[in-house]
Amino acid sequence: MCGVVGYIGSKEAAPILIDGLQRLEYRGYDSAGIAVLNGGKIVSDKEMGRLANLEKLLAKAPLAGSCGIGHTRWATHGAPSQLNSHPHFSSDGAIAVVHNGIIENYAELRNELAAKGHRFLSETDTETVPHLIEQELKEGAASPIEAVQRALKKLRGAYALGILFRDAPDTVYCARLGSPLIIGLGEKENFIASDVPAIINRISKAIYLNDGEMAVLRADSVEVCTIEGEAVEPEVKEISFKAEDAEHAGFETFMLKEIHEQPRVLRALLEKHVSADGTIEIGSGLSPDYFRKLRRIMIVSCGTAYHAGMYGKLLLENLTGIAVETDLASEFRYRDPKIDPGTLVIPVSQSGETADTLASIRMAKDWGCKIFSICNVEGSSVVRESDATFFTNCGPEIGVASTKAYTAQQMAFALFALYIAGVRGNLTPEQVKDYLDDLHEVPDAVHYVIQKKEEIRVIGEKHHDGPSSLYLGRKFNFPTALEGALKNKEISYQHAEGYAAGEMKHGPIALISEALPVICICTKTADEVYEKMLSNIKEVEARNGRIIAVATEGDTEIPKLAGDIIYVPEVRDEFTPMVNVVALQLLAYYAARARGTDIDKPRNLAKSVTVE
Ligand code: M6R
Repeated sequence: MCGVVGYIGSKEAAPILIDGLQRLEYRGYDSAGIAVLNGGKIVSDKEMGRLANLEKLLAKAPLAGSCGIGHTRWATHGAPSQLNSHPHFSSDGAIAVVHNGIIENYAELRNELAAKGHRFLSETDTETVPHLIEQELKEGAASPIEAVQRALKKLRGAYALGILFRDAPDTVYCARLGSPLIIGLGEKENFIASDVPAIINRISKAIYLNDGEMAVLRADSVEVCTIEGEAVEPEVKEISFKAEDAEHAGFETFMLKEIHEQPRVLRALLEKHVSADGTIEIGSGLSPDYFRKLRRIMIVSCGTAYHAGMYGKLLLENLTGIAVETDLASEFRYRDPKIDPGTLVIPVSQSGETADTLASIRMAKDWGCKIFSICNVEGSSVVRESDATFFTNCGPEIGVASTKAYTAQQMAFALFALYIAGVRGNLTPEQVKDYLDDLHEVPDAVHYVIQKKEEIRVIGEKHHDGPSSLYLGRKFNFPTALEGALKNKEISYQHAEGYAAGEMKHGPIALISEALPVICICTKTADEVYEKMLSNIKEVEARNGRIIAVATEGDTEIPKLAGDIIYVPEVRDEFTPMVNVVALQLLAYYAARARGTDIDKPRNLAKSVTVE
């Protein structure tokens, strides 16, 4: 989604804005622009495509000034074009605005403003904002801040706004409703940004604006108030990660770096949540008695986090006997799920800013439910709107395709399920300890799979060229099949479908031919699922499908059937998805590399989907 940055201090603003926008590139964008206050006027440049195009423009004719705002646009209203790029301006050019979010009533406002003589240059919803502020000044607002407040009260929708006034030198205004915005605090300089990584190299403290708040930034002060004008004492937070965490660290892409970080992330979660005597601490703030009485859990999330939720459901049902449902947040929010206040709702989100997940939380709160989220980003909206949060603590995930956040979400569910099973007596302390011993083997098993990346690269390159691929799995690894297919389509643009293998005969078997790579997740399990999976593979083989299997080291059956095999170490059934998915992340990665796609910033995708 769009990225917003802003700067006020004594340095040149343009290079700082460009650097910040580069660090937000992972959010996805199609054009970029900046505006800088320069000796009594606002100067601006915008360009289509990559930031490098804007940089070229600035190299030829630099924009001088030490106060500015910048933006990367991910088109929603109006095609990607220079005219639709931000910043947008008031009629007199005295107000510049950058915006992330959607102004839902923009058409109505635009008509009203047009009737009052405003001319619009773009097709965007955003352009109404500077015109509306301009109109408020004309109609008597006594100051820029009053004009902004009056304008904001007329907007419906979501926004993170950065605003410059020609007549308010050395000042950046910003406001937030429904789209994330943080204020970075420096030494005699201050920043705004959609996300911490944009400015992590410049600050160590930040204010996370709440919905309905705005701020006025000068080099040596930040004043926060509500859009009603009530002063707010902001909470200043230390940023818990370092600039290096948001760097490539020698890897060719962020995605590859993040795949490699998984063993460390998983180990750290185990260290943080399991004490030496085997006690699990999940920090839900809910009493053991609450969990003993709990009858229903509802998990809501989107994309990869939804697949983690599917895994969580299987595990929780299996280990705790609690009825668990999982749903896509975008579906959940528009159905009538018959949730009672006794249901524990678990939103899962890497970014903590996904619009549908947030809407689901708000609905569940209205129904009186407790919200225990699984989230990666401290200070994010999901965290702030939850009663308690299990932090996945992965550090910033920059690659658009989620990898380390996924396995960390799975680990969170594993720990949560074991904790509840222990509290409710579904498992004896000895059984919980057995499970935990096995769970501690997962980080090494993941590391082992990553060490096989060259073998996986060869397989990925061999099968990258077809139009389509099919991913099959069962039980705990049905979500793995869905996630493997999602990774593949996201970054390699090859059509990929994930299916429950038992469903194959109900349709997808018609697709099978020698041209179709079928990725079969068939690691050894103690129950009948392995045998069933073998039967499915035989059905694919009988129709000359190209079988790529993810199998357990030492398996003697799979080599009789599969053309290519990725061997993974044996771990307990319930935990195989955390290991198997890493093989599929790498498979997708190398297929994408062979197809020459932009792996960290796949076309049309945004890292954090802050609009519906
Ligand atoms: O930040 P969230 O976890 O809430 O994001 C949910 C999805 O948008 C996200 O997982 C998306 O599907 C990723 N691109 C998957 O790789």
